[in-house]
Amino acid sequence: MKILLVGSGGREHALGLGLHQDPACTSLHVAPGNPGIAEFAQCHAIDITSNAQIVALAQEIAADLVVIGPELPLVNGVADDLRRLKIAVFGPSKAAAQLEGSKTFAKEVMSDAGVPTAHSFTCESKGEIERALDSFGAPYVVKDDGLAGGKGVVVTHNRQEALDHALACKRVVIEEYLNGPEVSLFGISDGVSILAMQPAQDFKRAHDNDQGPNTGGMGAYSPLPWAPSDIIDDTYKQVLAPMIAEMSARGTPFVGLLYAGLALTDHGTRVIEFNVRFGDPETQVLIPLLKTPLATLLYKAATAGLADTVLEWRDESAVTVVLAAEGYPSAPQSGGCISAFPSIEHVQIFQAGTSQNGQGLVATGGRVLTVTGVGGDLTEARDRAYRGISQISLPGSFYRSDIALNASVAEKGN
Ligand code: AMP
Ligand code: GLY
Repeated sequence: MKILLVGSGGREHALGLGLHQDPACTSLHVAPGNPGIAEFAQCHAIDITSNAQIVALAQEIAADLVVIGPELPLVNGVADDLRRLKIAVFGPSKAAAQLEGSKTFAKEVMSDAGVPTAHSFTCESKGEIERALDSFGAPYVVKDDGLAGGKGVVVTHNRQEALDHALACKRVVIEEYLNGPEVSLFGISDGVSILAMQPAQDFKRAHDNDQGPNTGGMGAYSPLPWAPSDIIDDTYKQVLAPMIAEMSARGTPFVGLLYAGLALTDHGTRVIEFNVRFGDPETQVLIPLLKTPLATLLYKAATAGLADTVLEWRDESAVTVVLAAEGYPSAPQSGGCISAFPSIEHVQIFQAGTSQNGQGLVATGGRVLTVTGVGGDLTEARDRAYRGISQISLPGSFYRSDIALNASVAEKGN
């Protein structure tokens, strides 16, 4: 099977490796990819904001399967363009991608499907905004309705800050504050069936102890030793299956990866948000733990063939730590030289914001790379990830030192 993978981040590096390791994948092409991915796949420098360029490349290489990594091409409708040409694609249609593209749409579908989420109001005027803020009270949760590249959500005790953010958005969702640990749980769907993956936890703040600004994610781990033992079944029944049934009933079936961002509150599981693609950096811990061959799995999802498939996992743990460039997330510095990578057993380095120049690897983005350690438990996985990342140097760069720390302590207490 010839596969085209679209994207260039650490998520795509991990997905690419998973696809490449499945013997069913005979050739792997990536657009645009990065130097890490180029070690095992053929990279094509196209503009992935252009559906036409993605479609032309899929045709040129006669792809049997196209896997879309990031949300933007999905929200732009590239999956529809590919399906029209009878090319199998792992990724939702433009209509189904609105689950990530519009918070209001996601709320409507959850309401119709009976999926538990925060109570919310969609507001367009100052009066509506003020009424919504005052009806929920602090802490205020204010979300830009549309795609905002991770900058759309403000959670604050400061009413003025909440109001200012709300007024700066065209359409805004104001909702109830959800208190409880956050979990990322992904489902792989063919439009009818959905397979729940094991949960992961992502660290969104830039610095240790959840200090500093929100980021795309500074690290992740899986599994979660502290989570309720029925979290996968419970999320399947309460969230994933009803969403897939509702999307299908609306005539816009969801094919691809449904990312449920959950809060485990005292009153039960609540959905914080949906994304319509694999999470980054959660993918960098889930793919190394997944035993089920990835190319075959995603092909089955793309061709209505998931019924009877079960996911198999390694009985191990994984921890990934992001190396961020100086200034990330507000003003990341590019151009710094990255030292050679260590070669350590059970450690994988996934590149993201890197490029190759005459001398070697240089940083080109905020999240430069992620280092994943796999081990018998979180403590071992953590030790390996941190041994790996501590041996990579990039001037001014930083990483969190507490990824999976509390969970590994909790695990020892079990
Ligand atoms: P999102 O872009 O929807 O993932 O939101 C970014 C972050 O804001 C989430 O990971 C949460 O930490 C926080 N957040 C979003 N919605 C809520 C909520 N209703 N209650 C508490 N925190 C929230
Ligand atoms: N890990 C957060 C995201 O992928 O959106």
